[in-house]
Amino acid sequence: MASAHPPTPVLCGLGGWLPPRIVTNEELSRGLDTSDTWIRTRTGIGRRHVAEPGTATSDLAVEAARRALKSAGTDHADALILATTTPDRPCPATAPLIAAELGLGTVPALDVGAVCTGFLYALATGAGFLAAGLAGTVLVVGADTYSRILDPADRSTRALFGDGAGAVVLRAGTADEPGALGPLVLASDGTGADLIRVPSGGSRDPVRPGTAHLSDPYFRMEGKKVFRNAVERMAAASRQVAERRGWGVEGIDLLVAHQANVRILYAVADLLGLPRSRCHVHLDRVGNTAAASVPLALADAAAGGALRPGDRVVTCAFGGGLTWGAAALNWPGISPH
Ligand code: UT7
Repeated sequence: MASAHPPTPVLCGLGGWLPPRIVTNEELSRGLDTSDTWIRTRTGIGRRHVAEPGTATSDLAVEAARRALKSAGTDHADALILATTTPDRPCPATAPLIAAELGLGTVPALDVGAVCTGFLYALATGAGFLAAGLAGTVLVVGADTYSRILDPADRSTRALFGDGAGAVVLRAGTADEPGALGPLVLASDGTGADLIRVPSGGSRDPVRPGTAHLSDPYFRMEGKKVFRNAVERMAAASRQVAERRGWGVEGIDLLVAHQANVRILYAVADLLGLPRSRCHVHLDRVGNTAAASVPLALADAAAGGALRPGDRVVTCAFGGGLTWGAAALNWPGISPH
């Protein structure tokens, strides 16, 4: 007889990929009114990776996905979910292209657009596929190339973002296994939709007939308001999942939060009453990689020895929408690629 409980998603593979070109704060400040000192002190970022012209989000995603599959000891997954807000094209979704590149056959594949919270929304979608019996394994990828949508003249966004991709493999398992994921919490507040946005190019402000121009195709963010929201929302969501998992905040071994600003990371830790040493920092080397941020930070923590099998991990994110969320995870004995 079938179990009354849906399967628990279990993380069994992890991989990341960063495009090789590195742009330091010094290089950025040569063409922009900013400085290494401002960027480091206000954000904690020292450098970021930027995709070469001709490289698209799917190219980064395929590299990360291959590494996640390798880490899981397989070359197949039954479904693919891509979190991104910089798809290769506005239409169609990018996920089917990635599935085809990976040779996954005709598996279901879709994009999820929750900006910097996208990876957590994609994890939840993957868990839903497992619970519905649509798949036994799911490849969940977070990939973005924000360099393509930043205004070259806007120092307040160009200093922050970098390109990259991260991926995990989830399989159907049980709650007592290493790698067991959950609970997750997800939320949104569309009254704050204007705080993070690309104003033009959608149905609200499409291409102007006869000109083929968009009035503002670039990414815009009201940083200060986002900052305050991000701290409060990520702290509350992290507390919620830690308590529901039965760990409490004090039981969290490592907090792996969306890497937007080191001041945000430490403010979240302070608000939770968690020592800052238990908050993983990766943004100094990659900046804010949007939907790729959480899996890349997990891969960095695992590769650098900050995560050991059995560790109690809480991951959280905040982004445009507004959207936010958190997930608890028992760290499995896997090696990221
Ligand atoms: O990933 C989604 C979530 N995103 C985030 O969580 C980002 C959240 N926000 C932040 O991280 C911060 O608000 C920023 C890093 C974006 C800005 O830091 P801030 O301490 O809030 O600075 P501010 O916006 O109050 O700006 C202070 C000053 C301004 O100049 P004035 O108006 O005081 O003359 C800015 O124009 O700093 C200026 N500024 C810069 N100066 C040098 C903004 N960006 C730069 C820059 N270099 N790159």
